[in-house]
Amino acid sequence: MHAPTTKRTARACAALLLMAAALAVTACSATPRTPAQAPTQAPSRVEEIVEARCFGCHPVAKALNWKAPSTDAAEKLLDRMVGHGANLTAAERSALIAYFVK
Ligand code: HEC
Repeated sequence: MHAPTTKRTARACAALLLMAAALAVTACSATPRTPAQAPTQAPSRVEEIVEARCFGCHPVAKALNWKAPSTDAAEKLLDRMVGHGANLTAAERSALIAYFVK
C-alpha cells in the first residue's frame, strides 16, 4: 500500500537533488571574477588607451589585433608609433606592451 507513495517521494527527492545540483552549477558560473582572473579586465583598459591614443590614425581593431612576438618587438612598434606622433604615458605604454605580448 505504501509502496507507490514511497516511490513517488523518492522520485520527487531525486528531482529536487537534480535541481539543487543545477542551481549550484548556475551559481558557480555566475560567481563574480576572482582576483586570479583580473587580467580579463586588461583588454577593456587597453581598448580605452587604444581609442584615446591610436584611433586617430587607424582603426582600434588594427591595434587590438596586433600581437608582438616579444616585449622588444612591442617596444619597437610603440617607439615607431610615437615617432608617427602617438602620445603615451609610461603606464599606458606598459599596459599596451603587456597586452601585445601574449
Ligand atoms: C600619428 C599616427 C599614428 C598613431 C597615433 C598611431 N599609429 Fe600605428 N601606425 C601609423 C602608421 C603611419 C603606420 C604604418 C607605418 C608603420 O608600420 O610604421 C602604423 C602602423 C601600425 C601597426 C601595424 C604595424 C605592422 O607592423 O603591421 C600597428 C599594430 C599599430 N600601428 C599600432 C598602433 C598603436 C597600438 C598605437 C597607439 C599607441 C598607434 N599605432 C598609434 C600611425 C600611427
